[in-house]
Amino acid sequence: MLAVAAVIVSGTGCIGTAASGDDSEATITEQAAVTNKGATDPGPRPGASGAGAPATPQPVDPDNPANLSAAAVACFPGLSPTMLRVCEKAVVRFQEVDSVLGTFGTETGVGLGPTFNANGCAACHSQPNVLGAGVAPSSPQFPGTPNPQVALATLAGARNILPSFITASGPIREARFKSDGGVHDLFTIANRSDATGCNATQPNFVAALAANNVSFRIPISTFGDGLVENIPEMALESNVTQSASASLGIAGTLNRSGNDGTVTRFGWKAQNKSLTIFAMEAYNVEQGISNAGFPDEREGGASNLQGCMAFNPTPEDNFAFGGDGDNSVSDTTSDVINFAFAMQLSKPPTQTLPPGVSQNTVVQGQNQFVNIGCANCHTQTFTTAASSFDQAMSNVAFHPFSDYAVHNMGTGLADGISQGNAGPQQFRTAPLWGVGQRLFFLHDGRTSDLTVAIAAHASTGSEANAVITKFNNLSESDQQAVVDFLRSL
Ligand code: HEC
Ligand code: HEC
Repeated sequence: MLAVAAVIVSGTGCIGTAASGDDSEATITEQAAVTNKGATDPGPRPGASGAGAPATPQPVDPDNPANLSAAAVACFPGLSPTMLRVCEKAVVRFQEVDSVLGTFGTETGVGLGPTFNANGCAACHSQPNVLGAGVAPSSPQFPGTPNPQVALATLAGARNILPSFITASGPIREARFKSDGGVHDLFTIANRSDATGCNATQPNFVAALAANNVSFRIPISTFGDGLVENIPEMALESNVTQSASASLGIAGTLNRSGNDGTVTRFGWKAQNKSLTIFAMEAYNVEQGISNAGFPDEREGGASNLQGCMAFNPTPEDNFAFGGDGDNSVSDTTSDVINFAFAMQLSKPPTQTLPPGVSQNTVVQGQNQFVNIGCANCHTQTFTTAASSFDQAMSNVAFHPFSDYAVHNMGTGLADGISQGNAGPQQFRTAPLWGVGQRLFFLHDGRTSDLTVAIAAHASTGSEANAVITKFNNLSESDQQAVVDFLRSL
């Protein structure tokens, strides 16, 4: 039997308690028919973000008190004054923008390239606020804001060709090649005013697309991820066992580190162990900045890289050994550790009623979400272990709506990539907290419509097929309530 959460919808003071699941009469269908009875996705929820921080002025200044107090809203409630200050500074540092030498305009971060997908964590993690997911013109919070990758292709004199899968109104994306599994960066620093002598050439995306060799990934929101990092492994293991259902055809597996055998939980395939490792890897893979975790410059799939690798001493990001700023922990610590602090100390999304949707409808939707088996994968509640960061983050019950396990999602979602134990058809149950204000869905950002995202769960071999059949059999009112519940998250 599934554990059921009481989710508090803020602003009403009411508590909705979902009914318990019943999967007794289910049968497994090979391929669920898509019968959306007319439920529509109202689109991303307008209004304030319930998590993250507003953008800080550039160049980033983590010693400016005004920036720190603006960043405080991103931090977990109840942190001690010491940890609140660490969080505030880290949230400002998360917004650092990088150029090759740190001298281009207000882009004072050092080490961009030789290849990159964007020039700052917050370039890709800013919807509906800093630390979030990818922005686009459809954002109610930042209406009209284009995909930043379009302008980055030619910033500072660069002459990168914009790949066809990057558009002003489409999702921010990174590209993997199925042939080697790796991320091939979209851009190089060649021809930039701060990269004299570099003649690198971009990967040939036209040929790779023609050969069906490219898979896409979109950014994942990091709000509240410090809580996720502190879920005890045994809790994840027992949840996967309890949530498995023979009648529904659901049996998740936890991805594990090839090094120490422990559970890995971050990324679309749950391929990464920790926020620190993710920050270190992202700094090198997305921005080309070598650091303590990934100390060497990365080729990123480009060719002709002679003359592009030695603009800065390596690792390009390091501790401030001689002291810096007010010599606080944050100021003397490297960028990557600060990026991790920002995520580790961040507050989760706040559930809010979408405009025109009643508390009763949200409870109705949540009840159906549990009844038909969505919550067998999208686990509603976990509780953290004791935290060495702050007492306020110890033993916290929270609602990520993921089991952090990977599931076979069928031929329709398969991406041709294996990472750790996760094969080409397997994906981590996407955490649904914050989904109400997200713009694009599924690992490759193929849709911005929640009803399409739900229908895409069903294809040959998918563990979700029986659940999607049940969704299709709901009345229009119940289907709409499920969508409205999702837009409240
Ligand atoms: C070019 C856009 C881009 C940039 C820049 C970028 N990211 Fe991401 N981020 C992504 C994508 C795409 C994913 C999903 C990757 C995957 O799972 O393969 C992701 C996922 C993540 C996750 C996983 C969150 C979760 O809950 O699973 C973390 C953590 C993260 N990024 C942190 C960072 C940090 C820190 C930086 C800056 C060093 C950064 N990212 C820069 C695109 C970006
Ligand atoms: C067998 C496990 C499983 C079941 C059952 C399941 N999901 Fe999912 N869900 C996933 C996985 C895995 C993904 C990510 C797939 C991908 O990105 O390719 C996902 C993605 C999503 C997304 C997109 C989120 C995002 O950030 O992109 C939504 C929305 C969603 N599920 C809602 C539902 C609803 C509603 C139901 C019930 C009708 C449901 N899911 C049932 C495993 C499941």
